[in-house]
Amino acid sequence: MSLQTIKNLDLKGKVVILRIDINTEIIKGKVQDNPRFKAHSETINFLKKKKAKVIILAHQGNPGEHDFTSLEQHAKIINKYTKIKFVKDIIGEKSINSIQNLKNGEALLLDNVRFLKEEFNLGNNKFVKILSGMADMFVMDAFSVCHRNQTSIISFPRLLPSYIGLVMENELNNIERVKKNTKNALFILGGVKVKDLVPILKNNVLSTGTFSLLCLIAKGYSLGKEKEILKNDLKYISVIKKNIKNINIPVDLAISVNGKRKNISIDNLPSKYPIYDVGDKTIESYNKEIKKAKVIFFKGAVGKISDKNFQKGTKEILKSISRSKSFSVISGGSSASSIDKFKISKNSFSYISLSGGALIHYLAGEKLPGLEALTKGK
Ligand code: 3PG
Repeated sequence: MSLQTIKNLDLKGKVVILRIDINTEIIKGKVQDNPRFKAHSETINFLKKKKAKVIILAHQGNPGEHDFTSLEQHAKIINKYTKIKFVKDIIGEKSINSIQNLKNGEALLLDNVRFLKEEFNLGNNKFVKILSGMADMFVMDAFSVCHRNQTSIISFPRLLPSYIGLVMENELNNIERVKKNTKNALFILGGVKVKDLVPILKNNVLSTGTFSLLCLIAKGYSLGKEKEILKNDLKYISVIKKNIKNINIPVDLAISVNGKRKNISIDNLPSKYPIYDVGDKTIESYNKEIKKAKVIFFKGAVGKISDKNFQKGTKEILKSISRSKSFSVISGGSSASSIDKFKISKNSFSYISLSGGALIHYLAGEKLPGLEALTKGK
């Protein structure tokens, strides 16, 4: 794939639209730093040093979800790594004025692009017209969003000369190696975004996180009240059922009894207490599988990592992968930040990708709209 990088461009005074991905966990209203911020800051810094005028586009959450919010706090986090401005607007007067006032070497983050209905209604809409009319080029820096068919990802390459940023370049340099090596991998899958796991369920899977609860339901276990929390994901049970033969389910779970961790066997389900992690016996049996595996792909948190009492599953499983001699890939923003959080050496993994769902779709052989747009673009 011959996509052009930004490395040898003359960018002085050029207005660059830069799409990054700083979608992250939000705990009690507080936006959490994760390795995506530092990584994309390097691209921003590079463009600033080349004296470009940088308009940064990014998203957080999805309409209707608890983590759908402004990028105001995100801007503060980026400012730990490189100086940027923030405007609480996207294509209104405030934004337009701020873009027009950008000086060479300055960068401006606009607000959450998913606040605009135009982000979801593709085509040559107001969002694309206004911003492309003010810009000289588009730089895609987030492989991690390339599986989404959305305006800020696919529309600008049709109108503007387009390039890939430093983070995107690094991901692209590694994904073929990942794809080649993960054909017969042991997939350890968790987190909350179950829909992104569907393309790879035919593989040998150890289920964790929200996904494992759906697997338990698919196996006939009753989750009681917990099923209400899972209501938006129950639609995946039929596809899980089709693949259940190769999916390992937890043998026990950690429930929260007034905030304290307690293990219960799956034979004691349903529980009146919330389930926040896999149990100790599951960790032990999954670790045995990890020891035997030659190739491991890990995506998504195993349990509720925002709560100290329920970090054990994620921590122990990541540690076990780090000790194994396998070719190991850690995928997704929250997985990458768990490695930092638990102070596990990054060098003990073969590759840490900032992309979660996008990488899974790519490994499953799907064409990613964001990549297609760049290859077919201007
Ligand atoms: C991610 O966090 O994996 C990407 O930002 C994609 O986010 P989305 O699932 O909300 O589209």
